[in-house]
Amino acid sequence: MVDIGVTDMNIKNVLIYGAGMMGKGIAQVFSARKDITITLFDIYEIDAHTPIRRSLEQLQDHGVITPEDTEERLSRIRFTTSLEDEGVRNADLVIECIYEDMQLKQDTLALLESVCRADTIFCTNTSVMSPTEICVKLKNKERFVGTHFWNPAHLIPLVEVVRTEYSSDEVVEEVMDILAQVGKKPVLCKKDVPGFIANRMQHALWREAISIVENGIADAKTVDDAVKYSFGLRLPQLAPLENADMVGLDLTYNIHDYILKHLEDTHAPSQLLKQLKEEGKLGFKSNHGFMEWTDEEIEKSRSSLNDYLIKMLYPGNQS
Ligand SMILES: NC(=O)c1ccc[n+]([C@@H]2O[C@H](COP(=O)([O-])OP(=O)(O)OC[C@H]3O[C@@H](n4cnc5c(N)ncnc54)[C@H](O)[C@@H]3O)[C@@H](O)[C@H]2O)c1
Repeated sequence: MVDIGVTDMNIKNVLIYGAGMMGKGIAQVFSARKDITITLFDIYEIDAHTPIRRSLEQLQDHGVITPEDTEERLSRIRFTTSLEDEGVRNADLVIECIYEDMQLKQDTLALLESVCRADTIFCTNTSVMSPTEICVKLKNKERFVGTHFWNPAHLIPLVEVVRTEYSSDEVVEEVMDILAQVGKKPVLCKKDVPGFIANRMQHALWREAISIVENGIADAKTVDDAVKYSFGLRLPQLAPLENADMVGLDLTYNIHDYILKHLEDTHAPSQLLKQLKEEGKLGFKSNHGFMEWTDEEIEKSRSSLNDYLIKMLYPGNQS
């Protein structure tokens, strides 16, 4: 997104706790606002600026931001390994981005609560774990929510804000508000359920895709082509429920009445997936998964994703 000026916001100091892949991406998101200082914390001394610079320069190459914007944004991101740091002690908002480990997250949040201000808002970027369980050691659980960013965090707009049974309305609103202010598309997940909203749908689709291959209906490349050349193309414009309304709920009812009993509904990972995993066919990391991949194909798949997303998200900015 282009840089955003100063407006009346309560949140001025953001602490991103954990400077791995997601932490660096989320730091980049907040750096778009001129009135926010970002502190990026990690237990290890790491060079966070170089990868963030590389990612900002990719936006620059597409004409989305200027070289001056890149320097300004980097100047708003500070790095520390010290809990004594002012950016930790005086954080208005903390987004925890450490390893996906329940006990580590619980202990880390309790530690942060003991060093941050009494009114600091805490968020977790867990992918799949229950935010309600993650906040169990917090004394003031009402100021905690899940904020599930998607990778690459600096590009994918969606952030699922997951309310726990303790989250206060004010905290939910404030987090939704700041995320919108930094250019994200926050959506509220009203119940703390596994997979939140989007991953439940994504993995229902993956389960069916794998089942089609496993049952010899089509090979893996054909399954992916069937998505890429049909509903995948129109999904950003026409998502499932608007699509159902468009075709009519009477038709949707009749289709479901006929087809749902034929769809995959297993509650365990597929046998095919298990077998591939056990054979060491792990996908890109072993050049073989559902499909075979050359090193060039892997590199192209990885590098073209960001270019594609930038073109989709900033169509007016392409130089
Ligand atoms: N990778 C994804 O696609 C993705 C997407 C959405 C959410 N998430 C979630 O985001 C979180 C971070 O994932 P990631 O992919 O950035 O992981 P990562 O391994 O790249 O980064 C984790 C960082 O946390 C630091 N760390 C670990 N323990 C710490 C501690 N006690 N205190 C401070 N820093 C500590 C590590 O040094 C590392 O830099 C996880 O909960 C993950 O499930 C990941």
